[in-house]
Amino acid sequence: MTVPEVLQAPPGLADIPDLDAALLIDNLHAWYGESHVLHGVNLHVEPGETVCLLGRNGAGRTTTLRAVMGLTSARTGSIRVSGREVIGIPRHRVAPLGVGYCPEERGIFASLSAQENFLLPPELKTGFPGLGEEEIYALFPNLRDRAKSPGTRLSGGEQQMLAVARILRTGARLLLLDEISEGLAPVIVQALGRAMNILKNKGFSILLVEQNFRFSANLADRFYVMEGGRIVLEMARADLEKNRATLKGLLGI
Ligand SMILES: Nc1ncnc2c1ncn2[C@@H]1O[C@H](COP(=O)(O)OP(=O)(O)OP(=O)(O)O)[C@@H](O)[C@H]1O
Ligand SMILES: [Mg+2]
Repeated sequence: MTVPEVLQAPPGLADIPDLDAALLIDNLHAWYGESHVLHGVNLHVEPGETVCLLGRNGAGRTTTLRAVMGLTSARTGSIRVSGREVIGIPRHRVAPLGVGYCPEERGIFASLSAQENFLLPPELKTGFPGLGEEEIYALFPNLRDRAKSPGTRLSGGEQQMLAVARILRTGARLLLLDEISEGLAPVIVQALGRAMNILKNKGFSILLVEQNFRFSANLADRFYVMEGGRIVLEMARADLEKNRATLKGLLGI
């Protein structure tokens, strides 16, 4: 006798997409041309959570962020932003879902002032207000003095702050940040960390790609380690110490 469908066991929890997640990536494969780079990535970022993606060079961390934004040549699997599937939608529709992507190359326009750079991207109808100029200066006090300075005159740290500020203006709630602390002086890294903590307290959801383990260890609630286009380890911040030896093996830190 066949069991009527209504009496069958409900699907396992793993089968039900977490529609509340700010970002839910399931079995993501991604390609650049012929090159198959991501091999079944699974990860999630809950609303208000800061999650860090660690890994050695070439592990696939940037590609994971790029795949969310539709910037790889092909992808399969599922990527949900606040429950909305983005695989299959045109790439210009991703940011209006409330996603801000800060790429490794900061993309500051040299001929524009800091203020003009900041005001350049339009506020998007994400359902959240973008941060205004005053809120940005409260977050990054260095930028207030540099408002009229051309992009070329800004230090690396100021350019990085501006690149983050720019995506906050759009009304993004989910921030994808690629190596924002890279190559910056410790005092600037500290200022970025302070700003990240403010954003966290404001309820932003953040996916951070980092090489700077100390920076991310102070910020993230949860960590993933990638290797060869896959997630090979996941842990909460409380378990960092316990996993020190494994992390050392995976990251060489
Ligand atoms: N545009 C591209 N075309 C072809 N292959 C690429 C492209 N960009 C990256 N790759 C390859 O994809 C793999 C993953 O690269 P990715 O940039 O995602 O690494 P990553 O973890 O961000 O590391 P890092 O930033 O330290 O280089 C690497 O083998 C890289 O050589
Ligand atoms: Mg990278």
